[in-house]
Amino acid sequence: MKALVLAGGSGTRLRPITHTSAKQLVPVANKPVLFYGLEAIAAAGIKNVGLIVGDMSGDISEAVGDGSKFGLSISYIEQREPLGLAHAVLISRDYLGEDDFAMYLGDNFIVGGIDEPVREFRRDRPDAHLLLTHVSDPQSFGVAELDATGRVRGLEEKPRHPKSDLALVGVYLFSPAIHEAVRAVKPSWRGELEITDAVQWLIDTGKDVRSRQITGYWKDTGNVSDMLEVNRLVLETIDPHCAGHVDEHSDLVGRVQVDDGAVVRNSRVVGPAVIGAGSVVVDSYVGPFTSIGEDCVIEDSEVEFSIVLRRASLSGVRRVEASLIGRHVQVTSAPPVPHAHRLVLGDHSMAQISS
Ligand code: DAU
Repeated sequence: MKALVLAGGSGTRLRPITHTSAKQLVPVANKPVLFYGLEAIAAAGIKNVGLIVGDMSGDISEAVGDGSKFGLSISYIEQREPLGLAHAVLISRDYLGEDDFAMYLGDNFIVGGIDEPVREFRRDRPDAHLLLTHVSDPQSFGVAELDATGRVRGLEEKPRHPKSDLALVGVYLFSPAIHEAVRAVKPSWRGELEITDAVQWLIDTGKDVRSRQITGYWKDTGNVSDMLEVNRLVLETIDPHCAGHVDEHSDLVGRVQVDDGAVVRNSRVVGPAVIGAGSVVVDSYVGPFTSIGEDCVIEDSEVEFSIVLRRASLSGVRRVEASLIGRHVQVTSAPPVPHAHRLVLGDHSMAQISS
């Protein structure tokens, strides 16, 4: 059995971060979200992975390499345009051959891994095995309608009037029957070849499509609030440790991880929080559910429930909350006169100012 991991796409809901990096590389507790998926695949006993990459292929291959650090053998598959999840399967035909495979959306985060569904699929060998979960906003997902016996009767992608609240989670298990299905479907209203339509085609042609409802935590990390939520959840599980230097005027409270070479001076860090390698926190407060990336500088500032990416700095600002700060970003305080905000924001940035 192989895996097909999708790390292409355009990431419009995470702009401007995704103008310069792949959304699958946004860190959760200082580790790219994609890595959690690759680890889950390795833990399920799958070794060979086809990794779909788009515009940001360079960044992704630099971060993931040949997969050996995950115990995987990774082959890169270039998708020139994000033409849909079924399109990703279509272009992977040669790589996948006649093997069964697990398709894993690289921006999905699933607590509990995929061992159980993979085991179930291997045992029963249906043509498709879907994971479903109850959500409060089914309009944002692929939605499944089940019949009285629990079999999947129909699927719809982002329906305006959903027939249920059961969303398709971004992990699908397929037999090679899916290849005929992805060739049969036409682009949807959003111009994509939808995997949802391909699975519907399997159902309509009498193939064996099964599903399993998961109750564990699952998030599609497509937008900032979902990223912050997943970051919160993962930070709650970290083990406190200090590999950096914390001076005697500082306090670390609760689950706090201070990575190699990080320095905390005259500051209070209330966990769960992680201070990345080489970062400096001075005269500051870092509050719960915050991930500070590597080589950041936080001085005379307060930050809480936020993700700060590599080499960013906050200086003289309070308080930053519920924020995603990109790489190399500088946030500073403005001079008291004139009482004005001075902004240099890239395309598609978003700033909320309290005045
Ligand atoms: O997260 C679960 C949902 O994922 C399902 O409920 C939906 O049925 C399914 O269509 C999908 O919806 P999204 O609109 O959230 O998919 P998104 O465009 O975010 O793409 C998912 C991942 O696949 C993401 O890592 C980007 C990658 N991708 C996407 C497209 C469209 C590709 O690699 N190539 C593509 O062509």
